[in-house]
Amino acid sequence: MEILFATSNLDKVSEASEIFSQSGHVVSQLRINGKVPELTEPQSDGIEEVALSKIRQIGALVSGTPMEKSAILVEDSGIFISSLHGFPGPYSSYVERTIGLQGILDLIQKERDRRAEYRAVAVISIEGEILSSSGICYGKISEVISGDLGFGFDPIFIPDDTDGRTCGEMTRSEKNAISHRGRALKALSELINLPSK
Ligand code: IMP
Repeated sequence: MEILFATSNLDKVSEASEIFSQSGHVVSQLRINGKVPELTEPQSDGIEEVALSKIRQIGALVSGTPMEKSAILVEDSGIFISSLHGFPGPYSSYVERTIGLQGILDLIQKERDRRAEYRAVAVISIEGEILSSSGICYGKISEVISGDLGFGFDPIFIPDDTDGRTCGEMTRSEKNAISHRGRALKALSELINLPSK
């Protein structure tokens, strides 16, 4: 099946591609007239609500075009830091762009509690039928920025139950095996591979 992923983040496309290709699906970035559609992010505390809003907006944009027949994938994710009461959560990309990773390290410099979690909600629309799944990856914020793989907060996020490296020091496959997005997308991939699909 061809899956069009509505995201401007090519790292997310690569991560999804690795997962869905295991069951023979091809993932590519959704573009309309050569451009990644700009979607409005609702100001919401929930990534589920954001993901559902994105799939509705894309549904309206592809309606009446040949893309209507393709499976459309959207995803929303964020990092939730315990000592900041879940901040930045749905505002993660904004915080990444503004104060950056060092800004987060400075914010929690004096905190003993460094727990954090990555969360993702993935939604796929196949000929109008909507399926969704979610994934969480528990971990902690490192003391220093480390690694240049992955994207976003990966160089300061150390997942639990691994060898202590940040996600920024992991290969794509290593990250996918334990990450929030890896979990959400694997579950979605199993759902679309059910015999009725
Ligand atoms: P979205 O594109 O609105 O879902 O924004 C997600 C933001 O959350 C990204 O821009 C990153 O700041 C952060 N984030 C989500 N998933 C990851 C990840 O796998 N690695 C690093 N940062 C992530």
